[in-house]
Amino acid sequence: MQLRDNGLRFSPITIVLHWLIAALLFSILGLGVAIAQSPGEARLVLLQNLLGTLLFLISIYRFWARVTSFHPLPVGSPNPVEVIVARSVAIALALAMVLLPVAVWLSRAAAGVAVELPGGLALPTLISPNEQLKAVVDVLFNIGATAFLLGLALHLFGAFKNHVVLKNLALRRMLGKQVEL
Ligand code: HEM
Repeated sequence: MQLRDNGLRFSPITIVLHWLIAALLFSILGLGVAIAQSPGEARLVLLQNLLGTLLFLISIYRFWARVTSFHPLPVGSPNPVEVIVARSVAIALALAMVLLPVAVWLSRAAAGVAVELPGGLALPTLISPNEQLKAVVDVLFNIGATAFLLGLALHLFGAFKNHVVLKNLALRRMLGKQVEL
């Protein structure tokens, strides 16, 4: 099995992790909405914490793999600026999935709140409560999360444009189709 991406194709690991991370992210956002509507539901918070921890751990490998392997050649013949923007956005999205969970963990620790997981487990709070630090981390999180959502919107627009307007195989390649370049 091809373990790493090369200039010709994504590895199956990249493809599986891409969609797993997308599913985890959308589940975490959905749980956030559900928690806002029923704040007393502690099980939803535990589940969200668990999914966030999994997202963080998988994203460490994924970011490392993205920056240490070739990105396959683009399908079709896009202009070079579009290719540079699309790849930079993809790398920024992968990095955000490492940094944003760290910011949440730091913010909770600075508020004196442990990130609790199902089964009575909890992530260690490696820093002591600190209101000023929490305020700084929250501002950084909000800036990072806004930039992330803008990048994600651009990423989804790119996928939509390739699939629906340009009718090329970019999306189908990310769904596992073998594409000869
Ligand atoms: C429904 C949601 C999504 C769609 C339709 C989608 C679509 C795509 C497509 C078509 C590619 C291949 C681009 C190419 O050929 O170079 C790609 C790559 C990529 N996407 Fe997405 N994407 C989605 C969600 C996400 C999310 C949520 C993230 C990160 C938070 C993300 C991060 C990446 C990254 C880092 C790559 C480069 C390949 C890799 O290392 O995985 N995508 N995406």
